[in-house]
Amino acid sequence: MIHRLPPLFPLLLPTLAVFLGACSDEGGERRRSLGEAPRFDDLMRVADAERGGRLFGRCAACHTIERGAGDRNGPGLFDVMGKPVAGNSRRFGYTASLRSLGGVWTPERMDAWLTAPAAMVPGTSMHFSGLPDALDRADLIAFLRTRSLAAEVATQPERQPAPREP
Ligand code: HEC
Repeated sequence: MIHRLPPLFPLLLPTLAVFLGACSDEGGERRRSLGEAPRFDDLMRVADAERGGRLFGRCAACHTIERGAGDRNGPGLFDVMGKPVAGNSRRFGYTASLRSLGGVWTPERMDAWLTAPAAMVPGTSMHFSGLPDALDRADLIAFLRTRSLAAEVATQPERQPAPREP
């Protein structure tokens, strides 16, 4: 009997992969490991930038995320993490409410903003109700971090030294 198992095993693997993929899609596994009221640091530790990229679909009606892609209804968001608040686009007409906030986009601030923009900045023109789920926000913040100049430099293949002239 046992000797019949190996030929079947390769067939089981794709099924298993699909099953695990479905779990990580919704973050069920991570949610269970984090417990009832996870701390922000713990959420960021397990954040999934790839899933955050899919969640960015919720923002894409108003925001671009690629370098040089410009503004839509909202300012372009390439390299926004760590930037001065209301400072990521030179051309965008930010509200006085957002401009008066000051400081830079830390992960914690981005988390508060994405929870409920109008609660954090009354009078903002970002008409978006917010993302109630903490893991969704962490995944999205992890994604924003990957769309940055620093991440681009880090993932560039090492430059080959130019060949010497004879
Ligand atoms: C309906 C359009 C709309 C949607 C959807 C939207 N935004 Fe915005 N966003 C705006 C506008 C408009 C502003 C400028 C707000 C202001 O000046 O008060 C803004 C500003 C921002 C800023 C500040 C940028 C800076 O330079 O300081 C960030 C960060 C941001 N949005 C992230 C997001 C993310 C992430 C999502 C998706 C979860 C999202 N937004 C969804 C319209 C939108």
